[in-house]
Amino acid sequence: MRLDKFICKSTELTRTEAKKLLKMGKVTVNDTVIKDPATQVHENNCICVEGSELTARSSRYVILHKPLDTICSNVDEIYPSLLHLIDVDRAFDMHIAGRLDADTTGLVLVTDDGRWSHNIISPKKQCEKVYRVWLRDALKADTAEKFTHGVQLQGEEGLTRPAKLAQVEEREVLLTITEGKYHQVKRMFAAVGNKVVGLHREQIGPIKLANLPLGEWRYLSQAEVDAFL
Ligand code: URA
Repeated sequence: MRLDKFICKSTELTRTEAKKLLKMGKVTVNDTVIKDPATQVHENNCICVEGSELTARSSRYVILHKPLDTICSNVDEIYPSLLHLIDVDRAFDMHIAGRLDADTTGLVLVTDDGRWSHNIISPKKQCEKVYRVWLRDALKADTAEKFTHGVQLQGEEGLTRPAKLAQVEEREVLLTITEGKYHQVKRMFAAVGNKVVGLHREQIGPIKLANLPLGEWRYLSQAEVDAFL
């Protein structure tokens, strides 16, 4: 990870304070003074601030049931950041692994382990995400087939990756996708002439929201964390 991030993970310092210390030449990595905050370091390196060795706190992995009108961002905008709902120390040092729109509810994963979240959001990993979708119009008979072959989203090169669609009710479906393009689910249904009127994420890889109440969070189990290590 970046050196400034390592310092934050192992002290009570903010990113700005860590950068200031670096600039002052107070940080050594394996006995060499390092000033560049972007330097990549490993937990096995001997990293010292003014001669005292730092030990990184272990990473945290959280699942949250996102309510409507909260945003997947580390800063508040029109709506508040959902990180306010996670009452752990330094919640705003964590990041969201796979964003949801303000008007989408459901499963959100939050961590301070960048390598772990990369395994969820990297397009190369093709991690499955399951959404429950409520539609304006009844599902057309050919939509599942179109989604299997891929549809053209406006402004994108190439078709969407094969997606699985299971009908629940006339206007309710479960959609499994392995991509995470901007507004992907809404744009996929727009591409087949329908409209999403409600969206809820139920699952990411093997991790399920299950009966976690709206607005609440819990730490992931070791088995859940291991799924993306
Ligand atoms: N697709 C969308 O359109 N919105 C989301 O929030 C998630 C997936």
